[in-house]
Amino acid sequence: MKISFASITTPDGGALVLGVTGGRKLMATGVSIDRDAGGALTRAMKSSRFEGKKGQVLSVLQPPGVGVDRIVLVGLGKPADLTALSVRDVGGKVIADLLSAGDQTAAVAIDPVKGAKVAGPALAANFAYGARLRNYRFDRYRTKEKPEEKPRLKRLTVLTGGAVSARKIFAALTKVADGVFTARDLVSEPGNVIYPKSLASEARKLSKLGVKVEVLGDARMKKLGMGALLGVGQGSARESQLIVMQWNGAAASKKPVALVGKGVTFDSGGISLKPGAGMEMMKFDMGGAAAVIGTMKALAGRKAKVNAVGVVGAVENMPSSKAQRPGDVVTSMSGQTIEVINTDAEGRLVLADVLWYTQKRFKPQFMINLATLTGAIIVSLGYEYAGLFSNDDKLVERLTKAGEAENEKVWRLPTHDNYDKHIKSDIADMKNVGGSGAGSISAAKFLERFVNKVPWAHIDIAAMVWPKEGSDVNPKGASGFGVRLLDRLVADYYEGKRR
Ligand code: BES
Ligand code: MN
Ligand code: ZN
Repeated sequence: MKISFASITTPDGGALVLGVTGGRKLMATGVSIDRDAGGALTRAMKSSRFEGKKGQVLSVLQPPGVGVDRIVLVGLGKPADLTALSVRDVGGKVIADLLSAGDQTAAVAIDPVKGAKVAGPALAANFAYGARLRNYRFDRYRTKEKPEEKPRLKRLTVLTGGAVSARKIFAALTKVADGVFTARDLVSEPGNVIYPKSLASEARKLSKLGVKVEVLGDARMKKLGMGALLGVGQGSARESQLIVMQWNGAAASKKPVALVGKGVTFDSGGISLKPGAGMEMMKFDMGGAAAVIGTMKALAGRKAKVNAVGVVGAVENMPSSKAQRPGDVVTSMSGQTIEVINTDAEGRLVLADVLWYTQKRFKPQFMINLATLTGAIIVSLGYEYAGLFSNDDKLVERLTKAGEAENEKVWRLPTHDNYDKHIKSDIADMKNVGGSGAGSISAAKFLERFVNKVPWAHIDIAAMVWPKEGSDVNPKGASGFGVRLLDRLVADYYEGKRR
């Protein structure tokens, strides 16, 4: 689908989308088109339940006196409630309707809304952004789809009085969408396609955008002493990889922000094998890595004025005669030893070495790691919030605000030192699982031992990578969670400007 911006005129053919605020109030363009159509729009609204509530949709087919095939009225809700975020949802809703109706071209008129918190151009750009986010589809492996099952929408024209500035705002947003789509693609790909080396190849593609990409294999990680990460990968036929991405958009003297991702390309559980039911979902256990790669793509794509490093530990957790055993003791790069009680608690073993490496090499302003770390976080927070754990209140506040602003919400859980005893081992410095209860917190306490007091946040996205249901801006399936959150965090607090 091509998205473009133009000034307001009535299009020839196709669908025309018009916004309606609460109480069935048409916007300026709508009022004049309703007049051309002899009041057909007003009559249609009155003879239906459509009131202009946010996200309501009403189709008027073949309106008289207007040269379009269909008019789609979409509810914007109360003007005072209309924000950059809420109009994205409206854009998503509209796209869903256009896709199911089978329109090939559509235009949407976005007039400024009196009383809204956002100006016309920002409304137009964010509507288009929501539309693009919803229009995503992972269909590489559908070879037998009939033409009538395929989406037909070729072009969406956003009509606005402020086309020039809308285009400019959208230019940055669409780069973030590119990052979100990369994350969704990587998560959707199965484990036979995305494994550590192929994930590294995908990351290498960012070099086109000016990202410096380095990849370390088993031998170099062994030299660095990454016994915790390598222990997880040792049962797999696929070599483990450490992927390091650097985007330098600010002065060299500026400390980077660091993003770290769990990249378990398939988590079978290892010798502590998972039950069969639902195991196929564990291809998404690299969702943290996908979010980091997607964010690096977004930052580079929109040329963010920040220095950022993204570091991903990519491994496959498999059972085999070479796999690590429950009870094995491994030595991490930090020198701390770990008793591996359960080989299925592998994410924290991978992150232990990646976090240590990242703070040691880059001395970042802060580190944020994203990981599908625990099933327990789904029990705690369901599919509404990602779990947030941190040693830094300022980072928590900023992440919380960025999450609200992007509707990728995070909720802080405690990291009190009383939880630290959960991971005491009888024979090593720590064990890799806690006792009963607070499974997400003991995992976070484990990670904390490898951050070396750097400001740090851990976001447990086990629920968020593949939500149970779609939303207005995410079709059902992989969400790309984390890209918009992290991009927003950087944009609002670490580029020396506000957007
Ligand atoms: N990748 C899983 C966590 C997970 C589970 C993510 C379900 C998404 C959905 C992780 O590696 C894992 O297996 N965690 C164990 C930890 C346990 C062995 C202490 C878990 O959550 O059961
Ligand atoms: Mn596991
Ligand atoms: Zn896992």
